[in-house]
Formats: sequence, structure tokens, C-alpha cells
Amino acid sequence: MDLHEALRTRTARVGVIGLGHTGLPLAVALAEAGFSVVGVDVDDERLARLAAGERVSPDVAPERAIALIERGRLSVSSHRAAVDDADVLVLALPTPLGADGQPDPAALFDEVARLSPKTGALLLNVSTSHPGTTRALASSFEARGRSIGRALFVACSPERLDPGNRVHSVENTPRLVGGVTAACAAAAKSLCSAFAPVVEVRSPEIAEAAKLLENSFRAVNLAFVNEFARGCRALGLDVRQVVDAAATLPHGFMRFDPGPGVGGHCIPVDPHYWVAAVRRAGVDAPLLALSQAINAEVPSWVGAEVEERLAGQGKSLVGAEILLSGVAYKRGVADVRNSPAEGLLAFLEARGAVVSFDDPHVPVWRGRSRVEGAPYWRWDAVVVVTDHLEVDHRRMAEEARLVVDARGALASAH
Ligand SMILES: NC(=O)c1ccc[n+]([C@@H]2O[C@H](COP(=O)([O-])OP(=O)(O)OC[C@H]3O[C@@H](n4cnc5c(N)ncnc54)[C@H](O)[C@@H]3O)[C@@H](O)[C@H]2O)c1
Repeated sequence: MDLHEALRTRTARVGVIGLGHTGLPLAVALAEAGFSVVGVDVDDERLARLAAGERVSPDVAPERAIALIERGRLSVSSHRAAVDDADVLVLALPTPLGADGQPDPAALFDEVARLSPKTGALLLNVSTSHPGTTRALASSFEARGRSIGRALFVACSPERLDPGNRVHSVENTPRLVGGVTAACAAAAKSLCSAFAPVVEVRSPEIAEAAKLLENSFRAVNLAFVNEFARGCRALGLDVRQVVDAAATLPHGFMRFDPGPGVGGHCIPVDPHYWVAAVRRAGVDAPLLALSQAINAEVPSWVGAEVEERLAGQGKSLVGAEILLSGVAYKRGVADVRNSPAEGLLAFLEARGAVVSFDDPHVPVWRGRSRVEGAPYWRWDAVVVVTDHLEVDHRRMAEEARLVVDARGALASAH
């Protein structure tokens, strides 16, 4: 049976490489759409927790994954050989920054160098990377004698999932699809339309650049609103009242709320892929680069506010006991990658503060265990870094000696 027929009848076997924050929800969506899915991940512990029915993703209820595993629709493996005979290979691999702060898509390229998809298979890249990545992956197969668009179909459909979002999911968020050839695009469209609305774009580069535009747009606007918030504080204005007021404009304004800084795998990372890509092409992107620099600085502004408000109570940060309420980078998730809590911790500890944390989603962070259920008056200051819904912010407001609320959580708790 050819690939199109296998996709149409959902008899195609799909291998998802990387079962992380994006790969697992995608594997589940594909399995629920009727495909037989094998997920491969190098993280044995994650696979064991998944198979044991533990929650490893904010977007996949354990019962959902277990039901698919029990019905034989989804299986997981730590061996790449498990996807050797797959008709479709989905690459959901990390594309982080390296130690030098520069884009490091090596996991993607290294994996592709090791892969040997069967003839007639579709390779779908859903990882975020610079424009040209998917075509370069295709070229590496071409160099190994594969004819792209005939013996191998290669396309890009960047993942646009917003982890923890209960309204917009993998299944109802339109998927951009761009193929290296028209036949590649058709195959990818056939796969993706089985579980989500599809928007075909002219090339993989358009899809890749669109994904970077989306996250760069957020990065710039978050930098701006946080810079604006700092200005409001200096002027003695409540920035949240200002944002609420501006948001009544029915045209030309899009609401962004100030916070303790950006985090996760996307906003602190993806814009650097764009900046580096255009720089290689001889063009600078100073606005985006500056936004990223501002975003990196925001946690220290929160730290400075803690220092200033403690000083207002005649206290110093030296020896002060500080509780970070939330260390995940955003509400409802356990993801602490690049969390603004890190920058804040560094700021506070460098000035001699003793820092604890509580987070209903994170039992252990940076070598310390979660402090749970203690009365808030125990600390000299409590900083709301993450506004998890499980946290009783009303009790916090009543009990704490000082709250620095970087999320506006206390106002919404009243
Ligand atoms: N996290 C998000 O919110 C989000 C949203 C949209 C897009 N993305 C993009 O999706 C891609 C994946 O990000 P993520 O957040 O899912 O990362 P992740 O770290 O959560 O997941 C990646 C998984 O791949 C596994 N892995 C690494 N190398 C492997 C290999 N060689 N073989 C098999 N498994 C391997 C890791 O163990 C991990 O479980 C990135 O490009 C990211 O930018 C992420």
C-alpha cells in the first residue's frame, strides 16, 4: 500500500521521536485519530513514568495515554529500532540554546544522521528551528541517495501547542504545513488533517519562519509590557490598572500582562534562532535582540523590588527569608526550564537572602524540596512568581508580612 493510501485509511504506522512536552500530546492525538503510534525517547525514566500511569505532561491526562497503550494504539520504546518500519517519522526533538547562548539544533541533525526511514516514508519535522532546517534535513537524506518527493517525503509542521492551555489544544490549533516538494506537502497534509485543521503554506521555510514570528512577537511584547510596568512602578502607577484601561480599546491594542519574566522552551529560546539566522544572512535584528536582553533582566527587577520593599520595612536582604510562590515558568505546568525563578533566585542569593519555594507542580527544584502548607508569616517576604490556581492567594494576602506579586495574583483573588 502506498503512503497516501496508508494515511487515508489510517493504517500508516507512525513513529514519534521525542516524547516530551510536544511529542507526547502529538503521539496521543495521532493515536486517537486511529494511527498505530510508537513513541521513542532516550529518557527511560520518563517512559517508565508514562507507562506507570503518572502524569508527565500538562496536556495529556495519564488515563488518556494508558487507554491508548492498553488498546495497542500507542507503544513506547527507548530504542530507535522500534520505528525502523514506520511509514511516518515525526521529529519532536529539543532545539535549545547551547552553553554559548546560541541556537543548538544538534539533537535534530544528529538524530536524522542516524535515521534510516524506509522507502516511501514521510519525515515530519515539528521542532522549532531556523528557516532552512527542514530542507537541510532533506538534503542530508538526498546526499545518502534518497530522492525527496519520491523515495522520501519531507515536510515541516511546527508545533504551536501552548502547554497547559485548556482551550487551545493540538487538535484544534491550526497546523501550518510546508513540504520540500508538492508531494511532500500533500503527504504531510494528509497526516496532519487526520487530527487538526491544516493550513498549507508554500514552503517549509514559511512554516519555520511563521513559528519564529509567533514566538518573537510574544517576546517583544512581553519585554515591552514588563519595561512599561517598571516605568509605572517608578511613577507610582498600578500597571495592571493601566493595562485594564488600555485593553478597553476595541482596535489596535493587544493585551499582554506583566510578569516576573519569560520562561520555558520557547520564548527565551526561539527568537535567538531568528536573530542568528538573519545575522548569517548579513542583517541584524536589534529590536528582537534587545527584547531578549530585557526579558533576561526582568527577574532581577523583581528582585530589586523585593530588596526595596524590605528596606522600606527597615530590613536588608542579607539573611532575609524569602519564599518563592511558584517556580514553574507559568501557571498550571511543572516545566521549570528557563524559569524566571532562576534569575530571581540568583539575584536574591547573591545578596545573602535565604530562599525557599513552594509549587504544587514541582516537588524538588535547584536542590531544595518544596515547602508546603507553612503559614506565610514565616517569611520576611513572599514573591508570587507563578500564579498557580491551587495556591490560596487570599490566605497569602492575609498572612504574609510582605508580598511582592509579580503576577497580579492577589488582586484577582479578591
Ligand atoms: N514546550 C513547548 O511549549 C513547545 C511548544 C511548541 C514547540 N516546541 C518545540 O518542540 C520541540 C521539542 O520541545 P519540547 O518542549 O517537546 O522538548 P522536551 O525536552 O520536552 O522533549 C524532547 C524529548 O526528546 C527526547 N530526546 C532527546 N534526544 C532524543 C533522541 N535522540 N531520540 C529520542 N528522544 C530524544 C528527550 O528525552 C525529551 O523527552 C522544540 O523544538 C521546541 O522548541 C515546544
